[in-house]
Amino acid sequence: MLSYQHLYHAGNQADIHKHATLAVLLRKMAEKDKPMSYLESHAGRGVYDLNAPESAKTGEAAAGIEAFLKSGKAPEEHPYISLITRMRREISPSVYPGSPFIAEALLRPTDTIHLMELHPREYDALYRMMRYPNVHLHKRDGFEGVPALCPPTPARGIVFTDPSYEDKTDYATTARFVLKLHRKWATGVIAVWYPILKDNPHFDLTKPLSEAGLPKFFQSEILFKKPATALIGSGMIIVNTPFGTEDEMAEIKGWL
Ligand SMILES: C[S@@+](CC[C@H](N)C(=O)[O-])C[C@H]1O[C@@H](n2cnc3c(N)ncnc32)[C@H](O)[C@@H]1O
Repeated sequence: MLSYQHLYHAGNQADIHKHATLAVLLRKMAEKDKPMSYLESHAGRGVYDLNAPESAKTGEAAAGIEAFLKSGKAPEEHPYISLITRMRREISPSVYPGSPFIAEALLRPTDTIHLMELHPREYDALYRMMRYPNVHLHKRDGFEGVPALCPPTPARGIVFTDPSYEDKTDYATTARFVLKLHRKWATGVIAVWYPILKDNPHFDLTKPLSEAGLPKFFQSEILFKKPATALIGSGMIIVNTPFGTEDEMAEIKGWL
């Protein structure tokens, strides 16, 4: 089933949590000179226009990133916030970076980026947005394609996974995906986003992962004060969490 389109939801509260967390991880990992790999299993289109009718229809970006930026509480020096500010100044006031663009912006030309996206329209948009010499695009099932490339070259790096969870079985599939990746690439950082809904389907993902004894396991969950949709909160799990990132990732909860 491929009906999900992130354009309806880009820049919502969950994206703030997800993308700010990713930016903290990438900035930390890019402090070391050694080249690294970034692999993303469910890339979406890379860059979003928050003036698009899809975004206006849900109003999620207006209640999310737009409201946060207007609140004056956004820390200007944070890599996620400073990237958005720069893009709005240099490209357009309605542009919003998806995770592939955040990775390209915060990593170096010597780093290798692999992006997987299965939806033909999203893949075409990704292809238009993300043509950089160090970026490899794959129209491929990310649950199968990312493990096939692991351990990657360079062997230092991160997998970011952000499925659409259209199907309830995606939670258990994502748990198996993370465990398989960790078996194939024991030192790789793995970052997973998941939605929190009323009946807690995410337990099929979080329970097996929290019980697996994974190294440097970090979990962050936010329950929204005023959920506008069935999405009542946002969660992130990190495996092999880079040293010195926990406090900064935990601070993001306070933003929301
Ligand atoms: C939540 S969106 C990704 C958003 C993106 N990570 C971001 O933060 O900018 C999930 C994407 O996964 C794609 N998708 C769904 N199933 C997939 C699969 N098995 N392999 C690769 N992509 C898939 C959908 O078309 C959708 O674009």
